[in-house]
Amino acid sequence: MVSKELENAINKQINAEFWSAYLYLSMSTWFDNEGLPGFANWFKVQFQEEQDHAQKFMAYLVSKGNKVNLMPIEKVDTSWDSVLKAFQDTLEHERVVTSLIHNLVSIARKENDYATENMLQWFVNEQVEEEETAQAMIDSLKLIGDNGFGLYTMDKELAQRSFTPISANASA
Ligand code: FEO
Repeated sequence: MVSKELENAINKQINAEFWSAYLYLSMSTWFDNEGLPGFANWFKVQFQEEQDHAQKFMAYLVSKGNKVNLMPIEKVDTSWDSVLKAFQDTLEHERVVTSLIHNLVSIARKENDYATENMLQWFVNEQVEEEETAQAMIDSLKLIGDNGFGLYTMDKELAQRSFTPISANASA
């Protein structure tokens, strides 16, 4: 079993992951309304990934004989001033999630809970990737600027992204 403190903190993290999923689903819908189906698809995959993150934490608690407590999900924004702003919000959001994950690692270390620390390492790496990806999208969008054809081309590229569950990767 993990300690009560870690159980509570992981349950809060499960909520944060579903909150992330909800935010990205909202962004996906907004992009669909804006006539950018490729961007909508990209955020739909984000939505699926975040649900997968939540379920990875849920499965871990269950495997340890702890209790999963699904709590209400915070309200999220439903529109953005620009495509760039949606990705800036994404980066800001992922930075918050990174700090939450790091806090979980700190608790696990304090408790000498090596199994939990090891499980969390996957999320530490994932957050590096999440922040890098959001930053790369921001950089591309800044290059594109007001160029409609650039946005059209990027939309076509993002339409190709597809969801791969964590369980499909050997390293997970
Ligand atoms: Fe589950 Fe995007 O962090």
